[in-house]
Amino acid sequence: MLHRARRGPDLYALVEEYFRSAFATDNELITEAIRRMLAAGGKRLRPRFTLLAAEAVGGRAEEHLRLAAFMELIHVATLIHDDVVDGAETRRGVNATAVDFGNRISVLAGDYLFAWIFKNVTASYQHPVPHVLSSTLADITDGEVLQLKALGDLDTTLAAYVEVAAKKTASLFAASTECGALAAGGSPFAVRALRDFGTAYGIAFQMRDDLLDLTADEATLGKPVGNDLREQKMTVPLVLALEAGDREFRAAVERFFADGGGEPERVAEVVAGIGAQGGLVKTEAVLAGYVERAKQSLAPLGTAPARAELAALADALL
Ligand code: IPE
Ligand code: IPE
Ligand code: MG
Ligand code: MG
Repeated sequence: MLHRARRGPDLYALVEEYFRSAFATDNELITEAIRRMLAAGGKRLRPRFTLLAAEAVGGRAEEHLRLAAFMELIHVATLIHDDVVDGAETRRGVNATAVDFGNRISVLAGDYLFAWIFKNVTASYQHPVPHVLSSTLADITDGEVLQLKALGDLDTTLAAYVEVAAKKTASLFAASTECGALAAGGSPFAVRALRDFGTAYGIAFQMRDDLLDLTADEATLGKPVGNDLREQKMTVPLVLALEAGDREFRAAVERFFADGGGEPERVAEVVAGIGAQGGLVKTEAVLAGYVERAKQSLAPLGTAPARAELAALADALL
């Protein structure tokens, strides 16, 4: 990927340094589990969004590192829980937390981290930042539950899918940009624009993630591939493939789900079917629409350099 020159500080390095020097909780085991997940890598997109949003409204990234770190920690807590719910064994190229620490510690570590974040956020940030974050947590969980309720439901619509993606994934991107803009004193217009960017970006991001689950290889992705199909998740490529209305394909998906297996050859067959029904191509098109929407949301920000960086991050999803 092209490395764009920044005028400001290296945001990734700032966030990493913050975690290295400043992250610890009162519980040693939980701190260890979280540090392990942080050290394993990850793209650090959410903290980057917080810092870019702060810059986009005229703030300095260095002054908002703690808030940015909270966004990544919310993400890490949701990942730890998500891997328990999805039965996923790898994350960021290493064992999922549940593999090394068990489901019980994973559930408790995620809960503890959420509570620890809110204890800190409510002590340091004014309304509406704590409200935005608590609404986000409710949305993420709501989205994960809606997704579970739709497992294996071949009549899932694109609208229902988008609602799940908006809640489980986009809400945290929206909160990351919104809170960065709020903390840096952005105008209501700018805050709104950045939140809207995060929402549209996040929906496109989940669509890309769904495509990668079907098409990437596990070593590069650092997490399981094909897991969504094994878990009977109604991801967007599958929803759009079924929308084409081919009876044979629908029957094949029904059989795959009914058998409950997940042998690589059978997963590959379903992936091929999704491709043949146009599910991958159609997903690319819908995803591109959200990327466009995300970039259009940034219009009120004028020519701030951070605006161009956010737009480039959106384009990178294409
Ligand atoms: C994974 O998010 C969870 C989804 C919302 C799809 P990322 O792809 O940002 O995960 P990391 O932080 O880079 O590991
Ligand atoms: C991510 O959904 C939603 C979260 C809130 C973590 P996925 O289940 O698709 O995320 P991955 O693929 O496990 O990272
Ligand atoms: Mg998952
Ligand atoms: Mg996924």
